[in-house]
Amino acid sequence: MKVLILGSGGREHALAWSVLRSKRVTEVVCAPGNGGMAQIARCVPADLKSLDSMVAVAEAERPALTIVGPEGPLSIGIVDALQSRGFRVFGPSREAAMLETSKGFAKRFLQRHQIPTARYAICSSPSELEKALEMFHAPIVVKADGLAAGKGVILCQSRKTALEAANGLFTGTLLGEQERQIVIEEFLAGEEISFLCLSDGKTVVPLVPAQDHKRIGEGDTGPNTGGMGVYSTDTLLDAGMSEWIMHHIAQPTILGMAEEETPFVGVLYIGLMMTARGPQVLEFNARFGDPETQAILVRLESDLVDAIEACVDGRLAETEFRWSRGASASVIASSAGYPGAYKTGLPITGLDSARRFPGVEVFHSGTALANGQIVTGGGRVLSVTAVGDSLQQALDRAYQSLGEINFEGMYYRHDIGHRAMRRAK
Ligand code: AMP
Ligand code: GLY
Repeated sequence: MKVLILGSGGREHALAWSVLRSKRVTEVVCAPGNGGMAQIARCVPADLKSLDSMVAVAEAERPALTIVGPEGPLSIGIVDALQSRGFRVFGPSREAAMLETSKGFAKRFLQRHQIPTARYAICSSPSELEKALEMFHAPIVVKADGLAAGKGVILCQSRKTALEAANGLFTGTLLGEQERQIVIEEFLAGEEISFLCLSDGKTVVPLVPAQDHKRIGEGDTGPNTGGMGVYSTDTLLDAGMSEWIMHHIAQPTILGMAEEETPFVGVLYIGLMMTARGPQVLEFNARFGDPETQAILVRLESDLVDAIEACVDGRLAETEFRWSRGASASVIASSAGYPGAYKTGLPITGLDSARRFPGVEVFHSGTALANGQIVTGGGRVLSVTAVGDSLQQALDRAYQSLGEINFEGMYYRHDIGHRAMRRAK
């Protein structure tokens, strides 16, 4: 069968790699793809901001299955658009994706279904916000309602700075666009876990848990990024805690969406804060995480396409998952300047020798193929990913492999997995 993957990052490269391992898959087409995906699949141009462009790709390619990587296409209704034309597509409808695309929607949903989350208020004017702030103690978290690529969350140490941040969101000086709704939230302290599940709208099955590193700097300092590295181990969550999260968070979410007639089919990514009073939902994403997907899929031993088709066909309850024991890690190599401005088009060397380490996969996050040479093409450039019997082994392999790679200004964090490594000591 032929599979179409929409997207162009490390997540989509890992998806293409995993899909190609399925015996039933004969061809993978990536739209638009990147330099790494072009080495394992056929890439075709597509504008992920345009439904017409993506529909035209599907009409031309006639895939048996389409997998949507990023949130942008979901937010404009790519799943609805393709389904209405008879295509089989994996991902939530535009309405179901609101769990990610509107923080206000997500918070109200969580409250309606009594799913644990931070206390909050939704405000649609500065005066409403000023009043709501009286109910909160600093630190206060201020969030833009809509998609903001990680830039829409501001941690404020006082009510005054919270008000300033909110004003910046309302007037558009902070994100460039004027926000109509703002969520303010109590600050939650704890460790973050990325808890990703697959759902067919009724059944929900967890993937292996992962921990992302969102800040650019070592020791979790500096500005937020899309994610600078991630790891997954069996011990990140014990069985009891996993079950608790399924019972109190994942299942009620899927059940609630079904009851409200917006069944959620796709990847439910639950961003959790493990607080003193138990796991709390920080956010939902309606898609695979990046770089979580890279670390999760290298541990998947069963067939990804079988699982995805079971979601699309509403028979996930019958599907078995097999995972490798041990651990995996993925370290992001980024361009100098990221998450601010950066150069692109810089030649990358050492990719072939980087691949020779056992258990290593070098997924491309932002690269392009220019005259036969792989060059940088994004802020996050590579996701160097490895499996291991232990987290230490997975990390050693990923870092050894990274040691072979170079491009001008290449930056990566040397402390991926630091929380788990500290716990192990
Ligand atoms: P979000 O897009 O809502 O996940 O927020 C992005 C990041 O901001 C999260 O991954 C957390 O690191 C942080 N964050 C969001 N909400 C809170 C909160 N209520 N308390 C503490 N940190 C938060
Ligand atoms: N790694 C965080 C995300 O995919 O949103």
